[in-house]
Amino acid sequence: MNDLKFFAQQLRKPSGDFAGTIAEKMGEGNRPLYDLVMKSMQIKDHDSLLEIGFGSGTHFPDLLAKADGLRVAGIDHSPEMTKLAKTNNKQLIESEQLTLHTGNSNQLPFENSSFNAVFCNMVIYFWNDPVEHLNEIGRVLKPDGIFYTGMRTRESMLQFPFTKFGFNLYSIDEWKTVLQSHWFTVVRELRQIDPVFDDDGDRVQLESVCIAAVKRS
Ligand SMILES: C[S@@+](CC[C@H](N)C(=O)[O-])C[C@H]1O[C@@H](n2cnc3c(N)ncnc32)[C@H](O)[C@@H]1O
Repeated sequence: MNDLKFFAQQLRKPSGDFAGTIAEKMGEGNRPLYDLVMKSMQIKDHDSLLEIGFGSGTHFPDLLAKADGLRVAGIDHSPEMTKLAKTNNKQLIESEQLTLHTGNSNQLPFENSSFNAVFCNMVIYFWNDPVEHLNEIGRVLKPDGIFYTGMRTRESMLQFPFTKFGFNLYSIDEWKTVLQSHWFTVVRELRQIDPVFDDDGDRVQLESVCIAAVKRS
């Protein structure tokens, strides 16, 4: 039980000696979800994008290759993740295509109307009051900007016993209702069944979902 609670806490905010291990596990396990979100994103040359909760950041090279002249910013409240993602993306940072910050998404260190799109993968479960985060996302999005939520279905998440410890789980419809009640109009939903993977001896299959929601003007 203590192990499950510890694992859940590490997923919420990787820290200490275990941070690198958890980051590697997240990076591998959530790669299919990143592929789905990148497929869903309608990115144009010279767009400015923000990711909340980037973890190890190993996906940034693929994201920046999606169009010319992209600028990507990231924010994660774990200093360990910022340090790791900076190490994993030295060249992109040096060329000023990528900037990474440590901070909480309920207080984004960006000007109003800064981004064409904001996205986060497997992060909403840790927002105890989603409204304060959605307010900030709405503030930093340009008019007609899009917020992409990468998540798993509730049934998928319930396969993991650690989700009993501090995860705010949503069905897809519940999350869409939260979005529609605060700043956003849902415009698209993509789903995929991820490949089966081995989770410490258990065969697990997840359903990934990406919800695209436009900021209402
Ligand atoms: C489960 S991990 C997901 C990491 C990565 N997005 C992925 O899908 O593999 C959640 C990440 O979000 C970060 N995070 C959680 N809540 C946050 C918040 N309120 N503001 C910024 N980062 C947050 C954590 O530190 C962690 O790196």
